[in-house]
Amino acid sequence: MEKFSASIGFDNRLYQQDIAGSIAHARMLYTQGILSRKDFSDIEAGLLEIRTEIENGEFDWTDALEDVHMNIEQGLTDKIGEAGKKLHTGRSRNDQIATDMRLYLRDEVDQICTMLTNLQHVLVDVAEQEASTLLPGFTHMQTAQPVTLGHHILAWNEMFQRDYERFQDCRKRINVCPLGSAALAGTSYPIDRKMTGDELGFDSVSANSLDAVSDRDFLVEFAAHASLMMVHLSRICEELVWWSSEAYSFLDLGDGFCTGSSIMPQKKNPDIAELIRGKCGRVNGSLVSILMLMKGQPLAYNRDNQEDKEPVFDIVDTVRMCLDVFTQLVPVITFHRDKMEAAAAKGYATATDLADYLVMKNVPFRDAHEAVGKVVGYAVEQELSLSDIDLEQLQVFCPAAEQDVYEILSIQGSVRSRDHVGGTAPGRVRQAVVEARKFLHARKTKAG
Ligand code: ARG
Repeated sequence: MEKFSASIGFDNRLYQQDIAGSIAHARMLYTQGILSRKDFSDIEAGLLEIRTEIENGEFDWTDALEDVHMNIEQGLTDKIGEAGKKLHTGRSRNDQIATDMRLYLRDEVDQICTMLTNLQHVLVDVAEQEASTLLPGFTHMQTAQPVTLGHHILAWNEMFQRDYERFQDCRKRINVCPLGSAALAGTSYPIDRKMTGDELGFDSVSANSLDAVSDRDFLVEFAAHASLMMVHLSRICEELVWWSSEAYSFLDLGDGFCTGSSIMPQKKNPDIAELIRGKCGRVNGSLVSILMLMKGQPLAYNRDNQEDKEPVFDIVDTVRMCLDVFTQLVPVITFHRDKMEAAAAKGYATATDLADYLVMKNVPFRDAHEAVGKVVGYAVEQELSLSDIDLEQLQVFCPAAEQDVYEILSIQGSVRSRDHVGGTAPGRVRQAVVEARKFLHARKTKAG
């Protein structure tokens, strides 16, 4: 029973938050005349000593005391005597754990947001370098239209931009102080909830004690945003795996991020990208764990909630590790621009440009589409690229074509012509880089 119900094996990770919450609570009790000055200063000094002991690995955690709250409280009483037993006045482990989790997650969200900002800086730098590198754009994994690599990388950046915004948004709902809700119904002591909340850096205090001790929506939101961010990483890593394959050879992942095969000496496997892709699964699994944990739970606190910690901690550790590794991986990728450009030139990627050109010469789009279909058929048959077909031959299918058609038949001309907000033209990519940096810079100023 003791072993089964103990959470100390994992919730001791919350010791800093638990001690900070206890000191804020005790200070408030003292200010309100509920604790004497002497008791408060003993409690504060004792808790700070315990924190040092924990950090030096000198504190004895025991299953018999179940969780981080009771271990620390007992440690305090052992140290300072009677006053230690007064700390829990007007409080319950139910509002205590809710407070600890919110403090913990608020700091982790800030860390993750800083890491996302670093990653975005790296992506934007690479996008700038590759603003005019040509690459086939794909739909259904078939060559569709040429794009610039910088544009493709800025598409990744958009995903992380949204992730950042989502984390910032959920931070607002994390940063609400439940302390004072006590077990579920509040407390009869004359407490000052705003004082405790302010000391702990919360933006506000919770509005309903029943909800405050039982609500774990903030964990679900965080887990959902983390899951989606991992989905983004998995999509990008899949592209890296694909593009680094022998058949494509669009890029080389740095040797430090690949491994050899134990049996096939010629192999260089993209293990790290695959691992990030794979870790998306466990994070999404943890999201489902937390959702199911909450399903059907009646108000107010139930012990089920102890099960929220391991999935949340695992998400935090996994996400931080993946962001760290991915941010180091991106700058050492070698892009094989020649291979990308050759692939972009191969798949008749400018067929749409030809149709659009004919439309500009007053050919109805459907007719243009049909005529270009015939041109492509001819090119396949003759093993020519579109820009290799001479004008006379082109005019057999498309009488409206003139000499200037060759400007748009080249893949360079094709991307250059997509010159609008959100388009792939190199000039637009450079502009988008400037815009993206403005966003990133504004974050820094906001965080002070
Ligand atoms: N270890 C518990 C948890 O993580 C703390 C709250 C326990 N409260 C209680 N009434 N048993 O949720």
